[in-house]
Amino acid sequence: MIHRGGRVALVGAGPGDPGLLTVRGRRLLRRAEVVVYDRLVAPALLDLAPRALRIFAGKASGRHALEQDEINRLLVAHARRGRRVVRLKGGDPFVFGRGGEEAAALAAAGIRFEVVPGVSSATAVPAYAGIPVSHRGVASSFAVVTGHECRGAARVDWERLAGAVDTLVILMGLTSLPRIARALAAAGRPPSTPVALIRAGTTPEQATVTGTLADIARRAAAARLEPPVLVVVGDVVALRERLRWFDRRARRRARGPGLSVGGRALAGLEASRR
Ligand SMILES: C[S@@+](CC[C@H](N)C(=O)[O-])C[C@H]1O[C@@H](n2cnc3c(N)ncnc32)[C@H](O)[C@@H]1O
Repeated sequence: MIHRGGRVALVGAGPGDPGLLTVRGRRLLRRAEVVVYDRLVAPALLDLAPRALRIFAGKASGRHALEQDEINRLLVAHARRGRRVVRLKGGDPFVFGRGGEEAAALAAAGIRFEVVPGVSSATAVPAYAGIPVSHRGVASSFAVVTGHECRGAARVDWERLAGAVDTLVILMGLTSLPRIARALAAAGRPPSTPVALIRAGTTPEQATVTGTLADIARRAAAARLEPPVLVVVGDVVALRERLRWFDRRARRRARGPGLSVGGRALAGLEASRR
């Protein structure tokens, strides 16, 4: 049975910069009566739905304000009351966002829904750090993988991946970084392979640490980066030296020397790879 009236839009909020919301996402937010949102969603986006009931669904690593089942039930319950619900999710809802599970729950309950893709951190965060994930003559393939391999979930085959693609983009990889770097090196990636860690990409808090497979875990520990952090492994990272447009713009605005970040003084984070 299809429930008339209520409906749910799974909307990608983009990676942090509110300007990266899609036009469709903005239109749906303006009409929303209920917005269920995640931790990484830019607060400014909620202002687009001033009259909507706002429900925080949380999801810091390991700490959930609401469990996934509760979120699914909430979406179904509000739609059954005839409301226009926006489920606002960081990046793209179907890229490591459990959006597929939410869509499946809505389909099973007979709720009308749509999916509004978002700008995923997987490509946008490297782009704001000046790293194209593919580049003619440098990288003709890239893969996006999770570094968070929980029990029961399919494991990432690091050995096969190491040789199969040029650029690896790893989401949720900060905690497992030492193990991942060791696995990639053991599988044949040269220890000198460039690596970038980008924190809070596309926001004024953006900060980048660079290094190599051999030393990135040590550099990450020294920089005490906090999530969200995205990891890029591959020769494209070296292009950042020429293409780091966002940092430079922020540095010009802050008029501070030695910054590698969007707004704050974090001199020394960037490892010199020249
Ligand atoms: C649960 S995944 C969700 C990904 C999201 N659906 C997307 O398409 O971007 C969350 C992870 O994405 C990465 N991430 C998301 N936004 C980020 C940002 N602004 N800066 C750095 N990493 C980010 C981090 O690795 C974070 O732990």
